[in-house]
Amino acid sequence: MGFRSCFSSCLHKLGSGGSLAPAEGIDGDDSPGLFFELRSLQIATNFFSELNQLGHGGFGPVYKGLMPNGQEIAVKKLSLNSRQGMKEFTNEVKLLLKIQHKNLVMLLGCCVEGDEKMLVYEYLPNKSLDTFLFDEKRSASLDWAKRFHIITGIVRGLLYLHEEAPERIIHRDIKASNILLDEHLNPKISDFGLARLFPGDDTHMDTFKISGTHGYMAPEYAIRGYLSVKTDVFSFGIMVLEIVSGRKNHDTRLPGEKADLLSYAWKLYQDDKQLELVDSGLARYSQEEAAMCIQLGLLCCQASVAERPDMNSIHLMLSSDSFSMPRPGRPGIQGRVGRFTSTTGSMFTNTNPTTGITKASGISSFAEESTNSISVSSIDEGR
Ligand SMILES: Nc1ncnc2c1ncn2[C@@H]1O[C@H](COP(=O)(O)OP(=O)(O)OP(=O)(O)O)[C@@H](O)[C@H]1O
Ligand SMILES: [Mg+2]
Repeated sequence: MGFRSCFSSCLHKLGSGGSLAPAEGIDGDDSPGLFFELRSLQIATNFFSELNQLGHGGFGPVYKGLMPNGQEIAVKKLSLNSRQGMKEFTNEVKLLLKIQHKNLVMLLGCCVEGDEKMLVYEYLPNKSLDTFLFDEKRSASLDWAKRFHIITGIVRGLLYLHEEAPERIIHRDIKASNILLDEHLNPKISDFGLARLFPGDDTHMDTFKISGTHGYMAPEYAIRGYLSVKTDVFSFGIMVLEIVSGRKNHDTRLPGEKADLLSYAWKLYQDDKQLELVDSGLARYSQEEAAMCIQLGLLCCQASVAERPDMNSIHLMLSSDSFSMPRPGRPGIQGRVGRFTSTTGSMFTNTNPTTGITKASGISSFAEESTNSISVSSIDEGR
């Protein structure tokens, strides 16, 4: 069976089933569309050759593949061991297959053979937003209208994940490299729901460690492991500031106060000079929209979780003239900035299916100015 027909039969099956069926075996008996054979992925990716590698993230490498019917795919090899058994893993993948929206990267299925676990996605030819935004030449293709379009598309995708999907998904790792762009530069959020595949797996913490500044992470999550939809809102706010300014959230090449984008945006905003933040490479832009986006970015990054808007309000703020945006107070600058080592945001959580309580598990090492803090806390991820 070709993978397109595999896929549609899989979707058909899921669509008609209502609740998720228990995982079937991987011998292709009952879930023909869910599974890709290792052999066919090996052939599609030229045996996972380096030439086919698109990148390497916290979960492992990603390869471009070409199926016999001409369809391009992206294969994410999960190089971490998940404690999940085959059944749980399969059920999570089945759930993720149901999470579909035009602003989300489409998951096509998975491959589980021996120790190998892989996820197969649609291939997005323009790679990720960071490869445009932070590249002097490529950023020229992102005029203001496209940037605004990208922001509103991400809002729609996140609104769907938080409020409309069959199950609420907190992304936990919203950042420019997790926004992929299609051939028309429409944004699609990638890697949603990945944390569900690695519940409570403390032993692989080292694999996730990243060095440097991870300024996207909300302070309450970085420091206390407190997780909510507002964790994503904070990261989204940082990303909006990056899209408007065309620079990374932390840039040590910039002098003093400019190095941290959030602090700098707040300073300019207080001095009523916020438009100085706008990417100087933009020949023309709407001052009204840019000012609105900067205000929105700051609002999303409020230190107090309660003062951050939810995705519903953000959607209204951007789409309705009659919805006025509150003035932001001081954003949550402390706790997320500085040199530290931390996990990527998506890993250390574990949702209890009965209680809906999400725990940030493990001893994520978060060393800011030589202090280690991050522990465990919980929050209701359910609706
Ligand atoms: N479906 C896809 N189509 C095209 N390119 C992709 C696809 N998925 C990933 N990539 C590319 O591969 C790179 C690595 O992706 P990956 O998700 O592994 O790492 P990351 O996003 O940088 O970090 P993280 O593991 O935290 O998500 C991405 O930056 C992107 O450029
Ligand atoms: Mg990614």
